[in-house]
Amino acid sequence: MGIFRAVKALLLLASALVCACAAEGETELVLRGPEELRRGEEQFERLCNRPIRDPVTDVFCVGTPPPVRSLMELRNHLGLTSEEGGEFFGHTITGHSTSLVHRSVSAINPRVIFVRPETEGQEFMAMGFARGEQFTEIAVKNRVDGEFQFYLVMFSLPCDEDDGGCTPGALLTEAIESGWTGVNVYGEQDLQNTPLDCRVCHQPAGTDTRKLLRMQELEPPWNHWFYLQSKGGRALMDDYYAAKGDEPFAGISGADIAQSQPGLLSSAIFFAGSPPQPNAFVSNRIEPEVVASARALGGDQPADNSVPGSSETWEAIYERAKRGEAISVPYHDVKVTDPQKLEVMTTAYVDYREGRMEREALPDIREVFPDDERLLARMGMTTEPGLSGEEVLLQACSLCHNERLDRTITRSRFDVNLSLIGREEKERAIARIQLPIDDPRVMPPRLVRRLSEEGRERLIELLSK
Ligand code: HEC
Ligand code: HEC
Repeated sequence: MGIFRAVKALLLLASALVCACAAEGETELVLRGPEELRRGEEQFERLCNRPIRDPVTDVFCVGTPPPVRSLMELRNHLGLTSEEGGEFFGHTITGHSTSLVHRSVSAINPRVIFVRPETEGQEFMAMGFARGEQFTEIAVKNRVDGEFQFYLVMFSLPCDEDDGGCTPGALLTEAIESGWTGVNVYGEQDLQNTPLDCRVCHQPAGTDTRKLLRMQELEPPWNHWFYLQSKGGRALMDDYYAAKGDEPFAGISGADIAQSQPGLLSSAIFFAGSPPQPNAFVSNRIEPEVVASARALGGDQPADNSVPGSSETWEAIYERAKRGEAISVPYHDVKVTDPQKLEVMTTAYVDYREGRMEREALPDIREVFPDDERLLARMGMTTEPGLSGEEVLLQACSLCHNERLDRTITRSRFDVNLSLIGREEKERAIARIQLPIDDPRVMPPRLVRRLSEEGRERLIELLSK
């Protein structure tokens, strides 16, 4: 207790000093540009010099950072594995995401979130992971001010050194979960002017507003989340098990996958004191509307999504997201997969698992989404066909280029309020949206959304005016 207070006092002093220094320096007129992410010791030093103390800095900033060679080791260090007498609570799994990893996530390549709820005996922590991206995402609370703090743990793999980079087999099987050759830990502060900025979604009202945890489908039946008690949750798990059988995922046994508890995350979010979800997805109204509308057309949602459903309740929240008033909304149907593509990728994975296909030959099992641009837009992946240039701008760019966000970084030079920006900036935007998708400077950033041909054309027309 005494030590905790002393540390806290020191930290407060440190932050006061930082503020004093900043006030004495000359006024900053220059916007901060994008910085390359630091690595290794240099990054740990930067991370640990901030006046932040929480369960992540406990692991990486007290003494030498421990080696982390696998996801299981990371879970162990962070206290996200059940121990005798320990209080870690569990996990939940989703087959559709509207986060940074949304393009990786489907029923056959889901996102797990380990949840350690805040209780008298332990501090809040949540960690998300999906195969396909070489990072895990963490939320904790800073003891200094009680505010949420977000971290990205990036890990490297031996295949990073290969000529063609990592294959789908290296990224989308159990291979990605171990054999790590190093980790770099980034605080949300390090990611501010990058496409990995956590705050655009977890602090959407801008600097100095409360941060929030996210779960858009906050209430039962928790569409898109694996859940034994709901029809949709079981339908997703059926797809999962058809491909994955009883293989372990992220250290969870095949049988325990079914123990996914979406209610654990929603209650942990509540007890951690997160502000409410903006533009929530109202699961218990949307699911019955989807089921009824599909049935009228001969469909059988949620198990069979070959006939897509529709929902008036959903349209209203989607419209708000489309206008840029909120982040992407989860899709109305439980499943986001195209039935034929899902079947092909499921067969491939089974062949791999049963030894008939080499790991290196595994296709990219993330590619299970439909080709239909309209459906893709509604899943948050592109912009809706038929939109005007102004509407494309809002749907594709306003998440990160709006007046609420940090005005001290170069990102703010572009703004969806075009009356605020000049010719030169518009030209810069035209150039950025035409970059190839694998260029790190392409807009919108690769992980968040892609423009359709039509959307790009409309936007270029608008920006050329
Ligand atoms: C594009 C929006 C978006 C961005 C950017 C984003 N998140 Fe999230 N995050 C979400 C959503 C939505 C969820 C809810 C689950 C889901 O949809 O996958 C979520 C869930 C989480 C969770 C689980 C706890 C919770 O809030 O439910 C963690 C931890 C998390 N994000 C960390 C991060 C970190 C760290 C970053 C930055 C590196 C980040 N997120 C960036 C949208 C985002
Ligand atoms: C997920 C967040 C995100 C989205 C969505 C996004 N951007 Fe960006 N944008 C950034 C970040 C971060 C930067 C700063 C880093 C950089 O320059 O690459 C940036 C920089 C820019 C710049 C350069 C600003 C300058 O003058 O330095 C332009 C122009 C731009 N974006 C245009 C767009 C357009 C047009 C869209 C929509 C089609 C878009 N962005 C969507 C995050 C985003």
